[in-house]
Formats: sequence, structure tokens, C-alpha cells
Amino acid sequence: MLNNTDNLNYSELLAVLGEARMKRVHWLDTVDSTNLYLRELARNGAEDGTVVIAGSQSKGRGRLGRSFSSPEGGIYMSWLLRPECPPAQAVNLTAWVSVAVADAIFDVYGVHPGIKWVNDLVMNTKKICGILTEMSAEEGHINYIIVGIGINVNAEKFPDELRNIASSLYMETGKQIKRAELIGAVIHRLDILRTKWPDEKYKAEYLASYRRDNITTGRHVTLVSGDSCREAFTESIDDDFALVVRLPDGSREHINSGEVSVKGIYGEK
Ligand code: BTN
Repeated sequence: MLNNTDNLNYSELLAVLGEARMKRVHWLDTVDSTNLYLRELARNGAEDGTVVIAGSQSKGRGRLGRSFSSPEGGIYMSWLLRPECPPAQAVNLTAWVSVAVADAIFDVYGVHPGIKWVNDLVMNTKKICGILTEMSAEEGHINYIIVGIGINVNAEKFPDELRNIASSLYMETGKQIKRAELIGAVIHRLDILRTKWPDEKYKAEYLASYRRDNITTGRHVTLVSGDSCREAFTESIDDDFALVVRLPDGSREHINSGEVSVKGIYGEK
């Protein structure tokens, strides 16, 4: 069910973002996926900073080929970057973005979500935001990067199969807000990030927030990579945002892909 006062539309966005910013924003009531829509715009030359925002998605895409439930009441947005850096330097972008979105949530709600490695935002053990980064690159050159952000904002309940995993900012904080306000805060934080990323001199700032808010370290976890699962203890986050784990044989690894399943989070036993 939706907050009756939260009628997200073009004029609400214009009021919050202003005319200059709205020139690079594409608003759609509904779409299959904002990432796919933005990909078409990117292929046709859309510029750095272009944003696509939708009220709902029929084929929301998640990490690792999963779907992302995208009913009305959430925020579904994708952001285009055309950085000059080599593709390898872009691997930590998603971690920087998770910090930026967490900061935007703090700006609006006054509460800091946790970060579940690698880039889920979590409140009270449940997921309230997912981030999907997709890159097009060739011969050591980045054509474009699309960062998709899905935030559960005003939902009052979730289907049975997601009830232990997902929640909304409304359900966790009791605050109903206008989605346009949170979109404004997210875009503000992304604009700041864009002036800093991928400059090494700002990395320490984002890394410190990422470490502070991380709920994945100091825990017994299962590392999931494709079909393989391994038990491990998570020790820390290294300087490249990778997860440092200790395996049962005492060896250490720096993990920078795949997923971790954490006991007590998302209903994991
Ligand atoms: C994940 O948690 O697996 C990532 C979810 C990313 C969802 C967002 S919603 C906006 C953008 N469009 C998509 O189709 N996916 C991303």
C-alpha cells in the first residue's frame, strides 16, 4: 500500500531537483528496467550524469542474474557515468555509491543503514536497498557505466517469500516521506561523489564510511560463488573494498566478487 501524499511525478521531481538538473533526468511512470532504458540512451550518446527514474519496474534486474521486485512505492533509478579511468579502476564504484546512498538516507531519515558487503543497504537485518552496476568497456576503455539503485521506501508489507529478507524505510523507521525528497538527496550525494570518484585522494573518506557502516565483518559467513559455498570468518575490509576472510585452514583471502550469506541477516540460519 502507498503513502497517499507521496504522488511521485514529473512536477514533484522538478520542484525538488530544479530545471537545470531535470534536463538530464528522464522520468517514467513505469518501465521494464531503468538500467535497460538507460543503456539505450547511453548507446545513443546520452551524457555523463543522465538519470532515469521510474515509479515502478516490470522487469527489475538484480545482481547475479536475479530479479528485483519493483512495485510502486519504491525508488528505481539509474545513473550514467562516462569516466576517463581504465576499467580496472572502476571496480570500487559500487562501494562508493553504497556510501553515497546511505548518506542520502541519513540526510532524510536521520538514521544510518548498515552496508552488507558488497553493496546492499540493510536496516534491522533486512534489505532496504540494492545496487546493480553494469559497465560497457573495450580495449582498456570504458564506454559507459550504469549504476542502478532500487530503494524500498514506503511499502507497508512484502510478499511471503520476501518477508524475512526485505523491508522498507517506512517499515523500519515509521516515517513516511515523499520519494521526490529522497531522490533529491540521493542525486545530491551522487553529484558530490562524481566530483570525487575515482580520485584516490578521496578514497579514504568513502572507505572509512564503508568500514564504519559495514555489518559483514567480524562474523561467521558462507562465501557463495556460483555453485560453490565455503565457510569463513570475515576479518575486515581492505583498502580496495574487498572482504578479508579467514578460512577454516587458517589461510586468508581477499574476496572481491560473489556474495556472502551472513547468519541472522535476511533470515539466514
Ligand atoms: C541487487 O540487490 O541485486 C541489485 C538490485 C538493483 C535494482 C535497481 S532498481 C533500478 C535499477 N534497474 C534495475 O533493473 N535494477 C536496478
